[in-house]
Amino acid sequence: MCGIVGYIGDQEAYPILIKGLHRLEYRGYDSAGISLINNKGELNVYKAKGKVSALEKSVEGKDISGTIGIAHTRWATHGEPNTTNAHPHFSQSKNLSLVHNGIIENYKPLRTELEKNGMTFCSETDTEVLVQLVEFMMVSHKCDLYNAVQLALKNVVGAYAIAILEKSHPDQIVCARKGSPLIIGVGKDKTSGRPEFYIGSDATPIIEYTNQVIYLNDEEIAIMNRAGLLDITNLSNVKQTPQLVTLQMNLDQLEKGGYPHFMLKEIWEQPDALRTCIRGRIDKAEKDVLLSGIIDHRDKFINCRRIIICACGTSWHSALIGKYFIEEACQIPVEVEYASEFRYRNPVIHPDDIVIAVSQSGETADTLAAIQLAKEKGAFLYGICNVIGSSIPRATHSGTYLHVGPEIGVASTKAFTGQVITLCLLGLAIAKEKKTLSNEMFHMLVDELQQIPDKIQWTLENNKNIDQFAQMFTYCKNFIYLGRGYNYPVALEGALKLKEISYIHAEGYPAAEMKHGPIALIDEEMPVVVIAPKHGMYEKVVSNIQEIKSRKGKIISVITEDDTVVKNMSDYSFVIPDTRDCFVPLLAVIPLQLLSYYVAIAKGRNVDQPRNLAKSVTVE
Ligand code: M6R
Repeated sequence: MCGIVGYIGDQEAYPILIKGLHRLEYRGYDSAGISLINNKGELNVYKAKGKVSALEKSVEGKDISGTIGIAHTRWATHGEPNTTNAHPHFSQSKNLSLVHNGIIENYKPLRTELEKNGMTFCSETDTEVLVQLVEFMMVSHKCDLYNAVQLALKNVVGAYAIAILEKSHPDQIVCARKGSPLIIGVGKDKTSGRPEFYIGSDATPIIEYTNQVIYLNDEEIAIMNRAGLLDITNLSNVKQTPQLVTLQMNLDQLEKGGYPHFMLKEIWEQPDALRTCIRGRIDKAEKDVLLSGIIDHRDKFINCRRIIICACGTSWHSALIGKYFIEEACQIPVEVEYASEFRYRNPVIHPDDIVIAVSQSGETADTLAAIQLAKEKGAFLYGICNVIGSSIPRATHSGTYLHVGPEIGVASTKAFTGQVITLCLLGLAIAKEKKTLSNEMFHMLVDELQQIPDKIQWTLENNKNIDQFAQMFTYCKNFIYLGRGYNYPVALEGALKLKEISYIHAEGYPAAEMKHGPIALIDEEMPVVVIAPKHGMYEKVVSNIQEIKSRKGKIISVITEDDTVVKNMSDYSFVIPDTRDCFVPLLAVIPLQLLSYYVAIAKGRNVDQPRNLAKSVTVE
């Protein structure tokens, strides 16, 4: 939540910062702001409510010159989304401007203390407290900005990624992080060859200019200047040695590539993204699975007594599918926990438990806190994340990246299928070591998993008319999604997708639970999406469909391509090719992603930036 971007070098900062804000807008779009120091040494701050485009309009005709600046796109926590609460925030003397991502939990007592010392506040934000505290430290301790930041942060409880400009020192930026991500890009100006630095909440605003980055660690403070100096220390003033990392990302992955929305691009990208996810992890010739994270910790996995998977939202849904697969393939009990609940219980954890965190962003605050708790209790931690270098992979003992490429659309699509495939690969790798599957079954599953990207391509090609069909459902106030076994989590995921981008109320249920209550909701107005592939509980799902039909509910089914029985019972059907029961979710979710996309489009919603949501939920 909230995106930060910064620049210092020889180029004009404004275009770099605005482009960076557009790339980070998925993190929040309640307001945006920018701060620049011009060549007269003036520190300017411009802010606007709403999206980055509103900020661009608001600065027309204003002085946006300067080769140093910081900028911010906000997802509101403390204080409503308006211009006053937008970042950057000035300190009282207007010598400092600061942007912040995170939450300062003790901002109230800090504010009271600062007010007692004569400081006045303009906004309701925790962030303004931070910038005032830094200024207070500079004045009361007669120290420079860098030391004042160290002193201030020692008094702060909570999470932060910050970047600060100082009017009286226009050649430097100071930044710091704890609990919220911050990356420094190290580049060279193309014309002058002189050093330049970039700051970003993630790599997306940086990759266009340099692929050399430093991931700031928790409680580290960095200072960078035009002469190319970059110093990093921790809160106790101990010098840190920065590690330069080369980003494996290209710019095309951050563009829409001809699609109207990132979400649609990411849906259609799934075959290729999943081929990359599988690449190097399946030995096609040997029909074998090679996951280094398991090979390196073989004994842990063989001897583990229980697996607990912590996740939120869509990642929680993929974790449920992972549970079913791992229990079936490895005979290890698996519990799936909402990270936000797990972290505030006192969960029983044994040293021979493995705790897996599943997270696209690798930054979700609740998931991060859940694994920190599990670590304190002695568990072995494994991360399944997409964003390379993010906080969760850095906090776990081992793990696997999804490698599905950056996911920009707020509604998760390719990360979901990437997570399901990765959890299946994990289950297969453990099963191989534990010998809980016959060789024949193991090879059959590996072989089938390899074919999934092609089958997703088939599913996309054969459900192209969902856009016309979706128009009919824009009037609906409610939807029900039903599935059984492996497809129950798909029902949950289909309902979540519809809710978050079309704002239509939708619920997912295990199909057999209908008769225990939800069936009372069924009438001719209620569309019911049933995932009904020709597998395991097919006959039972057919009975569930009959029950709905006899109450006049409208049936939208996801069926195996040659299934005329359910097709004839349905008002509309989406087809998927046949696959193993355990891999059906990877295909069945595709038409549901498309359905939610096209219903939202027909309702005129902002699909990539739905209201009230942000891509990375880095606050609780
Ligand atoms: O980055 P994470 O996977 O940890 O994010 C978890 C949820 O916030 C996320 O899946 C959310 O539910 C998505 N908007 C769903 O589309």
